[in-house]
Amino acid sequence: MPQLQSRLRDEKLSQLEIAARQTVAPVAATVGGERTNTDVTRVVRAASDAANARVTLLRIGRVGGLPVPQTITDSSDPAQPELALPTADSSARTGRVASGSEVSADGPVAEVAIPLREGGRVVEVVVYSTPMADVERNVAIVRAQILVAGAIALALAVLAGWLSARALAQRVKRLEKAAEQVAAGDFSRPIPVDSDDELGQLAVAFNDMQRQLAQLDRARKQFIATASHELRTPLFSLGGFVELLEDEELDEETRRRFLAQVRQQVDRLAKLSVDLLDLSRLEAGSLELRPEPVDLAELARSVSSEFEPVLAQHDSHLEVRLPGTPVEAQCDPVRVAQIARILIDNAVTHTTAGTNIVVSANRDNGFACLAVRDHGKGIPRQSLSQVFEPFYTSDDAQGSGLGLAIASELAERMNGRLGVESRPGRTVFTLELPA
Ligand SMILES: Nc1ncnc2c1ncn2[C@@H]1O[C@H](COP(=O)(O)OP(=O)(O)O)[C@@H](O)[C@H]1O
Ligand SMILES: [Mg+2]
Repeated sequence: MPQLQSRLRDEKLSQLEIAARQTVAPVAATVGGERTNTDVTRVVRAASDAANARVTLLRIGRVGGLPVPQTITDSSDPAQPELALPTADSSARTGRVASGSEVSADGPVAEVAIPLREGGRVVEVVVYSTPMADVERNVAIVRAQILVAGAIALALAVLAGWLSARALAQRVKRLEKAAEQVAAGDFSRPIPVDSDDELGQLAVAFNDMQRQLAQLDRARKQFIATASHELRTPLFSLGGFVELLEDEELDEETRRRFLAQVRQQVDRLAKLSVDLLDLSRLEAGSLELRPEPVDLAELARSVSSEFEPVLAQHDSHLEVRLPGTPVEAQCDPVRVAQIARILIDNAVTHTTAGTNIVVSANRDNGFACLAVRDHGKGIPRQSLSQVFEPFYTSDDAQGSGLGLAIASELAERMNGRLGVESRPGRTVFTLELPA
């Protein structure tokens, strides 16, 4: 607003100056001439009409060498307010055109003073003046309009802000509701994704999370169901044998046979509980591993030798193939031995009697590898991806299906990997460990 005001004032002044310069000639011509006062007054009035401004003609008297302007005649009627005309003073002093403004009783007034000379000396000054009330009025109108427009814009902005905040709040509320449902265990209702802005992306991420949680939840339920089933079977069987053993008239031979069965079931239960505990610790991340430099060749040799009695029973031959030098790996030796036992045990259990087995250790691609190969009938292609899942066992197998699940979890915990390749006549499980 102040800028607009001063621009309009400058504009007014320059228009006044142009009008003054265009109409000043007849007034200048009266200087020093033999004109009557009425003549001069008429000329001044004419200039005033032509310039559409009040015109005041002043004579420059001198008091102590200083110029003092005194009014000769004024185009306006006496009703108009008295003006101090400060531009007349400065024009008389400098001998140049002066422009400026003063504040009269009726408001601000724009003024342009033009010096009139006689023989090179400034003897009179003519001042054109015009009220600037219209400038003030225009500025006031513009200010009012800007204020109204600003108020409307503010109201619209507030409304728009409120509406969009409400829409956002509703969408956030929907997310919150969905989160509450998930927290309550209901994974069935995904959130509709209605945009691709940040909230839309959040909804997508949320739905992904919900899917994964649902999957985990299913896996957990299935794990519990299968684990309890696995526990129940040997327990029932034990119960049956105990009942049979209570029979007093049982001959010694049968009693021994039953006791052997009982021992087998107890062993199976013991192994199952150890396995379950291992697996749950692995999945909870609470199984502590102590990695250290280990010679896989040495470890393969010692674990293989543990199987001598079993192999003799199974009528099969186990060959250990090792390079001349140690195969160093960074791993927990106790856990790697556990993996090796699981693999060799499978090679014996899931093959027919007389099947040969090869255990080898070597360095490959920056990894230390331990491989167990057998020449059994192999794993069907469609089951290959399932063998590492907990509780997966082939129909004819006796085990609980936790061995490979534990082995592959352990391998991953040691930054390694357990892989399998199988076709009829050749099955290889390879454990890769960081060298
Ligand atoms: N060397 C192998 N030859 C053929 N099948 C195997 C071999 N190793 C594992 N499998 C298959 O993988 C399944 C899962 O093995 P595992 O997790 O050790 O459980 P389990 O031995 O208790 O059945 C076995 O039931 C078997 O079907
Ligand atoms: Mg097994």
